[in-house]
Amino acid sequence: MKRSMTLAALTVALGLCAAPSALAKGSAGDPYPADLGPATLPDSVVKSYPEKIQAGYKLLLSRCSQCHTASRPLNSRFVEPPVGADEAKQKAALAELKKTDPEVFSNPAIWEPGVKIWMRYIKRMMNKPGCDIAHSEGAHIWEFLTYDSVHRKTGANAKAWQDARQKLLDQFKAQNPKRYETLKAAADL
Ligand code: HEC
Repeated sequence: MKRSMTLAALTVALGLCAAPSALAKGSAGDPYPADLGPATLPDSVVKSYPEKIQAGYKLLLSRCSQCHTASRPLNSRFVEPPVGADEAKQKAALAELKKTDPEVFSNPAIWEPGVKIWMRYIKRMMNKPGCDIAHSEGAHIWEFLTYDSVHRKTGANAKAWQDARQKLLDQFKAQNPKRYETLKAAADL
């Protein structure tokens, strides 16, 4: 009950998806380091997630690959605690994470923890011309991304995440040094 109310509230928060326009599919502009990583998660990881989260993952694979590949969200630095949309609860969860996982707050190119950071980005994507994501789909994808960000990037998995993400940054810097510096200067690496 509580969860469905949260979803309903989020659906409102996400707002209207912009009407589909002539924007060509697959045109996501300039590259990001995350694009160089895998476009799917390992089966073992997916299977370890609750069913509802797995459904959100499947939605992400189809809905978030319209303009760039699913690699972009799956290898992103963003971390948002999966505690619902309440700002105070999110702040408390992040404060707790700072105590248990201080390294997660040490390098924003590897981890960027933020209150509603995924919600903000999903909303931003849904406002782009050509976006074809229903409100309820956006909400389910948000549930997946928050759950996955904490499970796969922090705690026991923090080191593996750090190594994988650093590899993408190094590879990106070697392939595209100009864009690397641009993103770095914009704190958007
Ligand atoms: C309508 C096209 C479109 C769709 C659909 C789309 N994106 Fe994007 N995405 C973009 C563009 C264009 C950018 C380049 C940066 C920007 O404009 O925000 C981007 C950038 C990103 C970034 C990198 C942001 C950064 O600054 O590091 C992430 C993460 C992302 N998208 C996630 C998603 C997720 C999650 C979904 C599905 C809910 C999605 N995108 C669906 C067009 C799209």
